[in-house]
Amino acid sequence: MSGLENFLTQKIARRTEEGLLRKLTTSQNLIDFSSNDYLGLARSEDLFNAISRKMDSLPLKRNGATGSRLLSGNSLYAETLEKKLAEFFRSETALLFNSGYAANQAVLSSIPQKDDTILYDELAHACIKDGARLSLATRHPFRHNDLHDLEKKIKRIKSGKIFIAVESIYSMDGDECPLQELTTLAEKYDAAVILDEAHSTGVAGSDGSGSAIAQGLEKKIDIRIHTFGKALGIHGACVAGSTALVQYLMNFARPFIYTTALPPHSLVSIDCALDHLKNNPGLQQMLRGKIAMFLKHVDFSNRVVSKSAIQTAIFPGNDAARQAASSLQQHGFDVRPILSPTVPRNSERLRICLHSFNRDEDIVNLAEALKRC
Ligand SMILES: Cc1ncc(COP(=O)(O)O)c(C=O)c1O
Repeated sequence: MSGLENFLTQKIARRTEEGLLRKLTTSQNLIDFSSNDYLGLARSEDLFNAISRKMDSLPLKRNGATGSRLLSGNSLYAETLEKKLAEFFRSETALLFNSGYAANQAVLSSIPQKDDTILYDELAHACIKDGARLSLATRHPFRHNDLHDLEKKIKRIKSGKIFIAVESIYSMDGDECPLQELTTLAEKYDAAVILDEAHSTGVAGSDGSGSAIAQGLEKKIDIRIHTFGKALGIHGACVAGSTALVQYLMNFARPFIYTTALPPHSLVSIDCALDHLKNNPGLQQMLRGKIAMFLKHVDFSNRVVSKSAIQTAIFPGNDAARQAASSLQQHGFDVRPILSPTVPRNSERLRICLHSFNRDEDIVNLAEALKRC
């Protein structure tokens, strides 16, 4: 066995021994309580057909973007779509990215400079942490949603710009960032706020334009990242902000510069998903009804308090979380365990995602089954 094979095999064997080995699985036709398809757009036949019709109507039949946006990969369609996104997200302008991961990484790795400091919530998504790690700035986590801890850390900073990176709805706990108080604190110290709206895009507010807009804070947040792979049911992301911000990213953000742009099918999908949101204004309310139904019936002490579509039950230890998920799967529910190291040790959990399309009786039955886990 070569040195490399030996190294790979040993690492995998160690993971297996620790019960931490990640594996790909496919869905078993169970009732979906695990996907991020909160509004059912990924499975919407209407949206599927709208995308097909729009693809057919494109004057230029192209399969791929053919290059980076800065070379052959740009199009009038992409620029028009960005204007539409900026209008929807009420920002001066918007810039498309190939994924939420790339957008967060682009912002965090390219904007904060050597003398600056990034303060990020300890439960922030891996792409925020990875972006911060790529930056030359100093970086520190602050305790989850703890603004006292954040202020304590801000006070220690002697020079340079301060960046605060948070999520509007946290991907693993489903709880919300206290955005009003956070923006007040940021203003006090002239800190820039980077808000990842991955799990609020499509869901928060009456039209799904996100938490910042729902709370009237869009002007107080310097950088917003909206992703399309969750409630919009498709793929891709955009950064919404000022013209200077977008121009800066085009010039300095490596995940924008050095990658092939989104293909036409993705652009059309984003365009049609936005239209679908606008044409179906009851979706957010429907989802809120399903969340209320779950909260009315659920009764377990190990629940993380959350009012969002992401509900969490903690089962410390990978085996316990796996066992709980397996028992729910045997009852027909697609609920997945989230294991360490994805979440910190002893906070292993079931992550239950509610959807506008979940049937009331399935929600009630899941809540009952959870009591027996
Ligand atoms: C909070 C958060 N930000 C960003 C991302 C990455 O988005 P994408 O899946 O579009 O790369 C995710 C995906 O899991 C997420 O949960």
